[in-house]
Amino acid sequence: MCASIRQAREELIRSERIGVVGRLAASIVHDLRNPLAAIYGGAEMLMDSRLSEPQIKRLARNMYDASRRIQQMLQDLLDLGRGGPSQRQRADLREIVSRAAETLVLKAEAQSIQVVLDIPEHLYADLDSRRIERVVANLIGNAIDAMPGGGAITVSAVREGGSAMIAVRDTGPGIPAEVRDRLFQPFATSRKGNGMGLGLALSRQAVVDHGGDMWAELAPGPGACFIFRLPLEPPG
Ligand SMILES: Nc1ncnc2c1ncn2[C@@H]1O[C@H](COP(=O)(O)OP(=O)(O)O)[C@@H](O)[C@H]1O
Ligand SMILES: [Mg+2]
Repeated sequence: MCASIRQAREELIRSERIGVVGRLAASIVHDLRNPLAAIYGGAEMLMDSRLSEPQIKRLARNMYDASRRIQQMLQDLLDLGRGGPSQRQRADLREIVSRAAETLVLKAEAQSIQVVLDIPEHLYADLDSRRIERVVANLIGNAIDAMPGGGAITVSAVREGGSAMIAVRDTGPGIPAEVRDRLFQPFATSRKGNGMGLGLALSRQAVVDHGGDMWAELAPGPGACFIFRLPLEPPG
């Protein structure tokens, strides 16, 4: 009897461990997929000889940025294993948002989606800028995924007290009722087979690690709006 309970317990621990490894693997795949798609898609387009010089330059730039992001994510994973601190530096939010948007412009254009950035100058914060860049890219990416038939995405920011409030708003169908209550929990997804449901959970965690917070505006009406708050450096 005792032996069989012990055996069942060991079996449970083993399967839980496998579950954790599986989830971690899924989260890595999730983050690597977007930049890999940018490299793959970029290389495919470069094989088209009718591209103009500026188009080629832009593609090469995107592929370069995407490779850099992959390298950075691999570094993050190593740091995670070592428990190392993240690299924080004084960063300009406008630059971070434009870098994040730039990586998705081609994808948006291909879907007839207009991306409008409305970020004031001089919003400085002490940040791990690559991590926050991934947060913005995740939110824009979700909005793109929600609008296969085209639309518009606006990323705006305002200073409110000692913080910046950054909003990513789209003209898509809005957040499906089935995920509304657990949006920021890992593995909450409505895109069965196409999403792991990790993007918002990891993004919110990144913002919380910077002393901020993230939520969705559940106002009636069309479109979705995600807002996050980040503590800023005092102006001046
Ligand atoms: N802009 C948006 N418009 C509509 N639904 C959204 C939007 N952003 C997120 N969602 C919903 O939240 C879910 C979770 O998003 P996320 O955590 O990024 O996981 P994934 O994109 O892998 O599904 C999505 O599956 C989708 O249902
Ligand atoms: Mg997502």
